[in-house]
Order: sequence, then structure tokens, then C-alpha cells
Amino acid sequence: MRHLISPLDFSVEELDKLLDLANDIENNPDKYAEACKRKKLATCFYEPSTRTRLSFEAAMLNLGGSVLGFAGADSSSAAKGESVSDTIRVISSYADICAIRHPKEGAALVAASKSDIPVINAGDGGHQHPTQTLTDLLTIRSLKGRLDNITIGLCGDLKFGRTVHSLIHALVRYENVKFVLISPEELRVPEYIREDVLKAHGIEYKEVERLEDAIGELDALYMTRVQRERFFNEEDYIRLKDFYVLNKAKMEMAKEDMLVLHPLPRVNEIAVEVDDDPRAVYFKQAQYGVYVRMALILTLLGIEV
Ligand code: NCD
Repeated sequence: MRHLISPLDFSVEELDKLLDLANDIENNPDKYAEACKRKKLATCFYEPSTRTRLSFEAAMLNLGGSVLGFAGADSSSAAKGESVSDTIRVISSYADICAIRHPKEGAALVAASKSDIPVINAGDGGHQHPTQTLTDLLTIRSLKGRLDNITIGLCGDLKFGRTVHSLIHALVRYENVKFVLISPEELRVPEYIREDVLKAHGIEYKEVERLEDAIGELDALYMTRVQRERFFNEEDYIRLKDFYVLNKAKMEMAKEDMLVLHPLPRVNEIAVEVDDDPRAVYFKQAQYGVYVRMALILTLLGIEV
């Protein structure tokens, strides 16, 4: 039985196959409409979510399966003090596959160790968010045609942003990917990412504070929200929340084919005026999230169409 806890749980070859499958689903949705008939997906979300939970549910419904779950710790027995381990043991007998989001780093890994069904990490605290990474990879590969030979800028809250951590882990495995890490000093990527992931793989990267200084050299710009819920005090959040605002003027400094990605939700970091720019692909990215989660569910359930 396989789980998806970290983006490294799939090899590059397996990822390629998964992304191919997602593209085939995009182009031939009817072919997959009954693939998960009588299968159930449980979504156990102990933290807020719109896209991740609903795209998982849409994915399972598109495959002809059904969904059950809860959308907040308060509405589950976690509010009574039940452990994640006990919850997953029980859910294993109700569903065929489970997506879990939890504020604690490592919660999905613990769940997987106690589970009789495949567990998907839908975000564990400030640690990892591998299905967002699958979404990001599918978006870049589909719209740029490649995952190698790109310079990608990651901008915003690189400290607490789990989507950034997972994406870096995944992208260092492709040839000639260069990173420009754009953040205020206080929100730089954690040291373990710099040392154990970037430096350990001999990856070319630089850290800059001003978006204007870097935007011109990027093939893709990945904007992120300042992760308010992970701050220890509100004053720091308020001081940093509007550090970056991508607007039309900054887009003029970018390459004509630079993609703008964002895992969403957006707060202020991308001005609404950018939405009409053909390079702004974040809403398309959310759509790709459904295809890739369909591909993931099929893969983890071992269903071939
Ligand atoms: C992200 C998350 O939950 O980490 N959202 C998402 O899943 N698309 C990004 C965020 O909340 O900023």
C-alpha cells in the first residue's frame, strides 16, 4: 500500500507517469467517469481549506466515487480529544483512501503509520503540501512544456509556506533548475531547505529581498501569501503582510512568457489588475489541481483505466 506524505514519495519517472495521466484525464474526462465507482474518499481536514478539500472531492466525484469527511477539527472528535491515530484507524474501515490536513507537522505521517488505506498529506503545518506540488508541476509542465531548464522565483513567506518547501524538494530533481528566493529577511526559507536540499544537491540559487531585482530573469514566478496562522504575534504579521504586491508595473519588467503561479488563497500579494494578464495562470493552476488529484487517487488505489 502506498501513501503520499512527501513529494519525494514518487520517483521522477513515477511523477512523469502521474502527470501524463493527469493530462490524459484533462483531455478525455469521460474515459475516467466511472473509474472509482463504489470507492470512497475521506477528507479529514483539521485546518481551513477551500481548494484542496473541494478539489479532492471534485476529483473523486469526477471519477464516479463518493466522498465523506469533516472540514474542521471542531466538527470532528478531535474536539473531544481523540488522537489522529485513533481517528484514522476507524476511518480505514469507512473509506478506501483518505486525504488529511492537520496543523501539526508530521501528522499525516503518523496517520499513515496507523492506516489500512492510502493516506494523502493535504498539508501538515508549515512542513509539506505534496498535492499542491503535483498541481504546480502539472501547471508548469503543461504550460511551459518542461520542468527542467527553468529559473523559478519563489516570493513571499518562504519560512512558513509549506507549498514552497514541497516545491523546492520536487524541483531540485530536474536538470538545470535555478531558484531565486525572494523574501524579507525574517521569512527566508528554513535552514534545512538551504543546507539539506539546495546546497546538498549543488543547486544554483540566490536570495534577494526586492522582487524588482529578480523578476526580469524568471521563467516562472511563484507568489505566496504571508502565513498569518503560523505567526507568533500579530504585529509581525501586519508589518510583513504587504511586503510584496505584484502589480502591472512589475509585470512589465518580466519576460513575455513568464508564468505567474500562486497556490491561492491570495490576500494582497497579487493585485487584481494582474488577473487579466495572459501570464497569470493561478486560476488555471487550481483547475489542474483537480486533474492531478484524480490521477493521484487512481494511482494510489492501483486502478488502471
Ligand atoms: C496553501 C496551503 O494550504 O498551504 N493553500 C492551498 O492548499 N492551495 C497555501 C496557503 O494557504 O497560503
